[in-house]
Amino acid sequence: MNQKREFPNWEKLYQTDAVESMPWFNPELDPDLDRALTQLHLKTGSALDLGTGPGTQAIALAERGFDVTATDLSETAVNLAKEKAQQKGFNVSFQTDDILNTHLNRKFDLVFDRGCFHVLPPECRLDYVRTVAGLIKSGGYLFLKCFSYLETRESGPYRFTPTEIQEMFGDRFHVRSIEETVYHGTLNPLPKALFCQMEKS
Ligand SMILES: C[S@@+](CC[C@H](N)C(=O)[O-])C[C@H]1O[C@@H](n2cnc3c(N)ncnc32)[C@H](O)[C@@H]1O
Repeated sequence: MNQKREFPNWEKLYQTDAVESMPWFNPELDPDLDRALTQLHLKTGSALDLGTGPGTQAIALAERGFDVTATDLSETAVNLAKEKAQQKGFNVSFQTDDILNTHLNRKFDLVFDRGCFHVLPPECRLDYVRTVAGLIKSGGYLFLKCFSYLETRESGPYRFTPTEIQEMFGDRFHVRSIEETVYHGTLNPLPKALFCQMEKS
């Protein structure tokens, strides 16, 4: 589980491959996030879609009524997502940004990370936790989706146990729940994943 994992050059990937072919492509709002928003009666406010990639989650959140900012390391991903949002008539602030050296200087009501944290180098995880905690208002939420330790595919992102998530995030967040689920995308079977709901203390 702690083996070193390799990732593509994200910018090159978005320059060469169609986003619809990517394993994480999901045109709908992630069903776990959808359920959490309903349970928590979250309908408006500011949202950050972190590592937005194809931008589907950012657009779906805007469609739901959130004021959405969406960032990604890849400028090409950001430009493609911006075009898609414009075509669909949704207003999302798409920005090229590295979460490990972020230029964001405001706080959000909620942050959604579906697949960014689990591709970061292990030595950067605590910096990520500190940075993301600084981007969320007190009482705001971090919704994190990452691969689960139960996923057995050889390749792909890092995997986590609920205990590891609790240990990494617990100092800065109240970890409300960690559920075993799947990562909705183009792979078959869908990879096993964790959906974590955390409240900023
Ligand atoms: C597995 S994809 C998930 C994309 C998107 N969240 C989704 O659900 O469709 C991971 C994304 O994280 C982005 N990424 C990787 N490292 C990043 C970083 N340091 N800062 C911001 N984005 C990053 C990649 O470019 C890629 O688009």
